[in-house]
Amino acid sequence: MAILNVLTYPDPRLRRCAEAVKVVDDDTRKLIDDMAETMYTAPGIGLAAIQVDVRKRVIVIDVSEDQSALNVFINPVITASSGEQEREEGCLSVPGIYATVKRAESIVVNALDRSGSEFILEANGVLAVCIQHEIDHLNGKVFVDHLSRIKRDRIRKKLSKQERRGSETLAGSAVA
Ligand code: NI
Repeated sequence: MAILNVLTYPDPRLRRCAEAVKVVDDDTRKLIDDMAETMYTAPGIGLAAIQVDVRKRVIVIDVSEDQSALNVFINPVITASSGEQEREEGCLSVPGIYATVKRAESIVVNALDRSGSEFILEANGVLAVCIQHEIDHLNGKVFVDHLSRIKRDRIRKKLSKQERRGSETLAGSAVA
């Protein structure tokens, strides 16, 4: 396994739309393993292939406390959603920034697992948020796009200041 380089906002490569995986093969499974290792090492609770510069519709998520419940979604599609929730979100591609985003409370998602079998999952709470956040990535969208322009400008300034200062460890909520 390998730790992959995570692109940082506002890198234009985060704006690309990922393509459906046609065949779930060993290359796909290697990507999944590398993405999981990258997510766990960060640490984060979710990662989309676009964030590691791979334009495929692949997501890994683990919202458990002890990194014991890896969820893999290939070609995920949300087929139903209901309710509303607001939660603070962070993102491995937007280091050190946290903001509250409004999302659906419950979703139903169809996807393929790492063996290529189709499954349907009903999710709510933080898992539902994470799935919506990662599917946004596959469509070239970052969570700060849900915020007002003023807030986004503030975030951009903060990030460029951070970059000038060099990397630093920032404590905060879970990032995806
Ligand atoms: Ni993210």
